[in-house]
Amino acid sequence: MRLENKIALITGGGSGIGEASSELFAREGAAVGVCDLNADTANAVVERINAAGGKAIGLQADVTNRADVERVVGSVVDEFGGLSILVNSAGVSDRAAPADYDVDQTWQWVMDVNVKGTLLPTRIALEAMRNSGGGSIINLSSIYGLVGRTEWLGDGFSAYAHSKGAVLQITRDLAVKTAREGIRVNALCPGFAHTNLTTGLRQNPELLARMEEAHPMGRLGEASEIANCALFLASDESSFVTGIALSVDGGYTAQ
Ligand SMILES: NC(=O)c1ccc[n+]([C@@H]2O[C@H](COP(=O)([O-])OP(=O)(O)OC[C@H]3O[C@@H](n4cnc5c(N)ncnc54)[C@H](O)[C@@H]3O)[C@@H](O)[C@H]2O)c1
Repeated sequence: MRLENKIALITGGGSGIGEASSELFAREGAAVGVCDLNADTANAVVERINAAGGKAIGLQADVTNRADVERVVGSVVDEFGGLSILVNSAGVSDRAAPADYDVDQTWQWVMDVNVKGTLLPTRIALEAMRNSGGGSIINLSSIYGLVGRTEWLGDGFSAYAHSKGAVLQITRDLAVKTAREGIRVNALCPGFAHTNLTTGLRQNPELLARMEEAHPMGRLGEASEIANCALFLASDESSFVTGIALSVDGGYTAQ
C-alpha cells in the first residue's frame, strides 16, 4: 500500500476530487479525515470507507473559518496521532455564488473560499506536520491558474482564475520555505472534470461540446484521474518533488 501509516486531512472531501481522493487514500492505507462544509456528504464518504475496511472520520467545517479549521486539524491529530498529508480540495466557482450577490461580493466570496480556504488549513496543518516529522500538502489549482480563459467562459473579471493563480503562488512560496523541514507543497492543475463543480456548465450541450473540444484528448477528466495524481504527490514516491504545478488536463495547457 502506498500510504501505509500516513494520516490525511482532505478538505472538500464530500464531493468530486476530494471524495475520490479520500476513498483512494484510504484504500492505500491512510487514515483519513474527510472534511466538508456539508456534513452529510462527508459522513457518507466516511461510511463507505469504513464499510470497505478503511479508517476515516467525518469533519464538518468551513475552510474560511479559523476556529473550524483548528478544531478539524485537532480532531485528526487526536483521533489518529498526527498529520502527514493535507489535500486542499474545497473550492467554488463564481457560478455557485448566492443569487443576491453582486459582482464584487461574488469575487470576494470565491477568493475567500479558494484562497483563504487553502491558506488557513495549510497554516494550521503545517504545525501538526512539523510535530509529525514532515508531510505533503496538495493544493487544487486549475488550468485557469496557468492560462487565461477563452471568451466563452468569462469576461476576465470573475474570480475563479484569479483565485487559482493565487493558489499556485501560495504553493511555490510555501514549498521554498518548508523544503528543509521535510514538508512538500505541490499543486494540481486539472482541466474540466465530471464533478458537481461543472454540472451547470455540462447541462448546456453546446458548452459541453466546446469544453470537450478544448481538451486535445476530446473529453473531460474524471475525479479519479485527478485523485491518482494527488496520490502520487501524497506518497513518498514523489519525495524529491516540491513546488510544482502538475497539469492533469488531457493536454489543455500543452496547446
Ligand atoms: N471539476 C473541475 O473541473 C475542476 C477543474 C480544476 C480545478 N478544480 C478544483 O478542484 C477542487 C475540487 O473541485 P470538485 O470538482 O471536486 O468540486 P465539488 O463541487 O465536487 O467539490 C467541492 C467540495 O468543496 C466543498 N466546499 C465548498 N466550500 C467549502 C467551504 N467553505 N468549506 C469546506 N468545504 C467547502 C463543497 O461542499 C464540495 O463538497 C476545487 O478547488 C476546484 O476549483 C476542479
